[in-house]
Amino acid sequence: MATQRDKILMCPPDYFTVDYVINPWMAGHDDSLNLDRAKAQWETLRDGLGQYADIEIVEPQPELPDMVFTANAGAVYGDKAIASHFMPMERRPEEQYFKAWFRDNGFELLDLDEKIGFEGAGDCLRDRRGPWLWTGYGFRTEIEAHAEIARFFDLEVVSIRLTDERFYHIDTCFCPLTDGFLMYHPPAFDYESRIAIESRVPPHKRIIVDTLDAGNFACNAVNIGDQVFLHRASGPLKARLMLAGFEVNEVELSEFLKAGGSAKCLTLKLTEPLAD
Ligand code: ARG
Repeated sequence: MATQRDKILMCPPDYFTVDYVINPWMAGHDDSLNLDRAKAQWETLRDGLGQYADIEIVEPQPELPDMVFTANAGAVYGDKAIASHFMPMERRPEEQYFKAWFRDNGFELLDLDEKIGFEGAGDCLRDRRGPWLWTGYGFRTEIEAHAEIARFFDLEVVSIRLTDERFYHIDTCFCPLTDGFLMYHPPAFDYESRIAIESRVPPHKRIIVDTLDAGNFACNAVNIGDQVFLHRASGPLKARLMLAGFEVNEVELSEFLKAGGSAKCLTLKLTEPLAD
């Protein structure tokens, strides 16, 4: 049976800049951003992913520099979506545009309680094998969101506590891959969360990412079938991924790293099939 081609939501970086600091990577970068370079890098990623998936676009908005990170638009499962409610005030004005996009595109949308912080697929990742969602908390998503996510999607949520502010969204340090493989940076999680991960992912499926690769946002990867798109991976990490059956595509995304984001943050997978 032919599998459906994936759909991915992206937002062009027309208004991308670093002019506030809401994560440690953004500090000191307000003057160093090169917008032309950012646009060229984004287009290379879009064109690369476009070989394997259909790219949908949400219109960028002036004064909303981080809207380019569509992973934070919301979380998607089947034809349902949960809208993000950003912790930093700077990103809250994005919410209305992302919600409008979900509604206009036929998703059944849940708005969480105004008091609950939740940053979408940045903190909520579908395991590629088991019927559960790896969901982060600690910095930009609150644990109170987790029960709501499980209820609305009718899917198990595995709560993972993030402990290192450099890895403030789960997608910066954790990447479920096809066939139940997992790329992750263990020091970014507390002890109980590491146990939860190890109890669900057998050793031969765990791809441990060291500090150097994690600092290059290697875990912030887009996986489509056997393809992995990321900013940069060391020789050993590339070899490990290759041995697991993946083809690694490196796309220079230096300008987006200055805002604390990379390949995965720049995308939202819109086709998350329901568990059997
Ligand atoms: N500057 C953005 C922020 O701090 C980067 C978001 C990265 N997105 C992600 N899914 N990790 O919100």
